[in-house]
Amino acid sequence: MSGKATLEYDGKKIELDAAIGSENEVGLDITKLRANTGMITLDPGYGNTGSCTSDITFIDGEKGILRYRGYAIEELAEKSSFMETAYLILYGHLPSQKELNDFDSGVAAEAGLHYSMKSHFDGFPDNAPPMAILSSMLNTLACYNTELLTTATEGDGFDIPASKIISKVRTIAAWAYRTSRGRPYMPPCPNLSYSGNFLHMMFSQPFDLHEIVPEVEKAIDLFLLLHADHEQNCSTSTVRMVGSSRANLFSSVAAGVGALWGPLHGGANAAVIEMLENIHTNGIKLSDYVDAAKDKNSDTKLMGFGHRVYKSFDPRAKILKEHVDRVLKALEIDDPLLDIAKQLEEVARHDEYFIERNLYPNVDFYSGILLRAIGIPVNMFTVLFAIGRMPGWIANWREMLSHNQRICRPRQVYTGENLRPYVPIGNR
Ligand code: CMC
Repeated sequence: MSGKATLEYDGKKIELDAAIGSENEVGLDITKLRANTGMITLDPGYGNTGSCTSDITFIDGEKGILRYRGYAIEELAEKSSFMETAYLILYGHLPSQKELNDFDSGVAAEAGLHYSMKSHFDGFPDNAPPMAILSSMLNTLACYNTELLTTATEGDGFDIPASKIISKVRTIAAWAYRTSRGRPYMPPCPNLSYSGNFLHMMFSQPFDLHEIVPEVEKAIDLFLLLHADHEQNCSTSTVRMVGSSRANLFSSVAAGVGALWGPLHGGANAAVIEMLENIHTNGIKLSDYVDAAKDKNSDTKLMGFGHRVYKSFDPRAKILKEHVDRVLKALEIDDPLLDIAKQLEEVARHDEYFIERNLYPNVDFYSGILLRAIGIPVNMFTVLFAIGRMPGWIANWREMLSHNQRICRPRQVYTGENLRPYVPIGNR
């Protein structure tokens, strides 16, 4: 489907094509605007800019809808697994049993790291942030797979690096954690599930295997599934941007880790726990905290609240909130931070400031409590987000290349000095 729109400026009319998506979203195509008129559009933060067309994920922020390849997130959360959903996101259809078995065993077979990579881990100081280690080690992985540094989007040239990265990102994450604790590396156990193997590599000790609690394994799997893609967010756009220069998959996803690290994006899951701990330990009144978050002169924000796209609710937050309650009950954990989070949500949801601006809890508001309950240290929270988001980054990188997209190179409106003569240093 397509349509037309007319733009008028300075007495001149320009006809623009409208691209209409399968859910009737309309995007005015301005790709010829500068060539035909000399003008560009201005949209800092890209709130109104569609950077691509995509078949992967659909979000309706007004209605709180999220679908991967047409499947509702609620249904996937209930019936699917992270591995099956990763396949769906990467290849566009739900796998047959054979396709899933092959994908699963391909990923499982790639869990180990080249032994020489140990020396890279040894080079990081004990307090190195795991997100920095993860990003560096994804680039380091490129050094051990130079034959895969291509931009192939089909066949082994794509399938092998994709399953290597999806598998090894979890080993790197677990080894980053162990490095920070001064613990020996734990080799992967191929009989375990994707999430179970991650827990094993994080927490097992030589001669003392970590007991994988089914509720915990399921919770990790659900967390990863809920984070698996989210269309053109900051980190995914970064992966596409880097990949548009025809950079290989390893360096493109390593750049995505950097973008995800920030507290306005993936880093919010850790920032929420820090906020709740601060409120708890210092006995801060919730109404005082909310007042500070509304004060434009303070640096305080209600972390885990608000979203660029969701303006009614974040469906991932709804699923996680229910799950947190169940996991805490199953593990017999009574976390005071959960009560504070629920009360804080109540205060904010009845406050005019948050109502007027459509600010609701996002995925990060409850995910941190879940991860904390299952023993994941706070500085690993965003690393888990990165593990979950990997299928989405890879699928977007592939889609961008298969659309043969031009290099991403935004324009700007220059607002600096006009031409002026150079002043010799003695005359300044
Ligand atoms: N606390 C207080 N005020 C807020 C908050 C918040 N968490 N979020 C937005 N606002 C205000 C903002 O100050 C602005 O007010 P005004 O209109 O008076 O200037 C208004 O709401 C609109 O916000 P915005 O800054 O234009 O929204 P944005 O789309 O640029 O930013 C956001 C979205 C998620 C970065 C922002 O809501 C935020 O900083 N939230 C806290 C951090 C967070 O939880 N991030 C995780 C996002 S979800 C997962 C992910 O992407 O990784």
